[in-house]
Order: sequence, then C-alpha cells, then structure tokens
Amino acid sequence: MSTDESLNAEIFEQLAWAGYLSYWSGPEEGERPSAYIIMLHDTLISGNYLCDDGIAAQSILLGAVEAGFGGCIIHSVNRNKLRELLNLSEQFEIIQVIALGKPKETVLLDEIKNGDFKYWRDENQVHHVPKRSLDEIILEIR
Ligand SMILES: Cc1cc2nc3c(=O)[nH]c(=O)nc-3n(C[C@H](O)[C@H](O)[C@H](O)COP(=O)(O)O)c2cc1C
Repeated sequence: MSTDESLNAEIFEQLAWAGYLSYWSGPEEGERPSAYIIMLHDTLISGNYLCDDGIAAQSILLGAVEAGFGGCIIHSVNRNKLRELLNLSEQFEIIQVIALGKPKETVLLDEIKNGDFKYWRDENQVHHVPKRSLDEIILEIR
C-alpha cells in the first residue's frame, strides 16, 4: 500500500484510466488518489487465487465507501514498470491496483439503453454508469 505523495505520483503514471473516455487522461493533479493498494499474488503460497481477488477488492471498496472514501479497481496497469518501481521479487505477481481517495465526482447509475454499457460524462462532468436492471440479470427458472 502507498500513501506517500511522491510514490503515488509514480504509481499514477503506470495506470490507465477510464478507457471509454478516450478524451480524458485521468484525474488531474490535486484530484488524484491519495492511496493505492497493490494487490499481489504470492506464487509461493498457491498457484492460483480463483475469484479471491474480486472478493477482496469488493470488500475493500465497500469498506472505503462506508468510511467516506471512494475507490476504483484498476486492471489496466503497466505491470513491468510497477514491479520495478516497487522493487518486487519474482515471487509476486501484480493482480490489480485499487485507487482510493476522497471522491470529488458525482456518479449516477442509469438504466442501460440499447445494450450500451459504456460509462460517459455529461456537460456538467457527472459520470453516468449504465447498468442492466435486476429483472434483466436475474434468470427466472420457474
Ligand atoms: C476487474 C475490473 C477492472 C477494472 N479496470 C479498470 C482500469 O484499468 N481503469 C479504469 O479506469 N477503470 C477500471 N475499472 C472500472 C472501475 O473500477 C469501475 O468499475 C467503473 O468506473 C464502473 O463503476 P462501478 O463499478 O462503480 O459501477 C475496472 C473494473 C473492474 C471490475
């Protein structure tokens, strides 16, 4: 985990933000995450981690929101450079990074239209995330 400002700045450079917002290169200085959790696979303990990384990431994010913070799972990571930066031995594989901080943005969940699930921003910089409805994702088997 890093809460160090200068290390955070170097970690930031190894992350790709919001691929669907091609015109946006990520949060501006002063609005960037104040902490990063780098989730690692310790290959000496087990050959795989199944879905444990998702469970852990979700739990961390729920805890962060409960404590008044916001977070984002970032899978699009320059792993080789981040490994070098953090001086990680071969024993560890970088799974993903969780960015944490005080949320500044307003996020709205919208109902999905025409199957388009891509998040977008309106003219007021409100971040819209289209979601499928519960009716749509629960398969009735009787
Ligand atoms: C496994 C996974 C990987 C992700 N990777 C990235 C990423 O590399 N960069 C990014 O900006 N957002 C990434 N996201 C998207 C955000 O974490 C977030 O899910 C998205 O903004 C939608 O918000 P919501 O999940 O709160 O609905 C990823 C999400 C998941 C679940």
